[in-house]
Amino acid sequence: MKQLDQKTAIVTGAGLGLGRSIALMFAREGARVLATDFREDVLDALRKDAAEQGLKVETMLADMRKPAEIAAMINKPVDMWGRLDILVNNAGIMDHFEPVADVSEALWEMVIEVNLNGPFRAMKYALGYMLPRKSGNIINIASIGGLQGARAGAAYTSSKHALIGLTKNTGFMYATSGIRCNAIAPGAMATHITDAIDMQHLHPLAAERIFPGTSTNPRTSNPDEVAAVALFLASDASSFVNGSVLTADGGWIAY
Ligand SMILES: NC(=O)c1ccc[n+]([C@@H]2O[C@H](COP(=O)([O-])OP(=O)(O)OC[C@H]3O[C@@H](n4cnc5c(N)ncnc54)[C@H](O)[C@@H]3O)[C@@H](O)[C@H]2O)c1
Repeated sequence: MKQLDQKTAIVTGAGLGLGRSIALMFAREGARVLATDFREDVLDALRKDAAEQGLKVETMLADMRKPAEIAAMINKPVDMWGRLDILVNNAGIMDHFEPVADVSEALWEMVIEVNLNGPFRAMKYALGYMLPRKSGNIINIASIGGLQGARAGAAYTSSKHALIGLTKNTGFMYATSGIRCNAIAPGAMATHITDAIDMQHLHPLAAERIFPGTSTNPRTSNPDEVAAVALFLASDASSFVNGSVLTADGGWIAY
């Protein structure tokens, strides 16, 4: 018996990094997985890799900034498989370490849209299906930047703090309705999230105020190490874990 036999799951931002690890790990553990992303090339590569490993992962384009695409994403597993058990809100983007006085309206809106509004809508639509059935499991990928003030810029930090608040409220409000909602706060992972950051032209306060904190990071993880935490939360082994934030950071915030 595999840990996610009979379960169906949506994983957002599943083309690269942590989402890709989660999608493959869930499929390996018996789940029927719908992997979504806003990039077609990475979804094509994921499908190919999954097939080479003897796994079947369904894919779908869904941009977490677009409510209609999020609604279609939530309906898809119900249409395909007749059920939706697990939603993993993983898609996320970084800022460029700007403190609030220097955050442009455009950057603020984009980070909040992808990291907070997208997960909010996905949860709202998924709960429309899960609540009447009194069964559902939501996992939000936050960050230790959602627990501490100096791991990213103001926009990313705010988006992840808010996502943790949303997680706790949801976990508590529906705790007697068959729903669990938890967050993972990863530390550094070897993924593509910093690819879009121009390291040569970072905000001056990044080096002065944020990078001293990063020197206390014990190490950077392989995303599979964090996907294993998502597997625990998705499985019945975590049946009494709800409204929690599990850090997976190698001990970084223990400093
Ligand atoms: N990498 C780290 O060190 C780290 C640390 C803490 C938290 N996180 C969080 O982990 C999650 C996964 O990030 P990652 O490190 O794997 O990054 P990544 O950049 O490697 O992968 C992110 C994926 O999300 C997709 N994506 C981006 N914007 C999207 C949108 N609008 N709609 C749909 N998909 C979109 C990308 O195409 C990509 O496939 C994020 O929520 C991130 O904030 C990452």
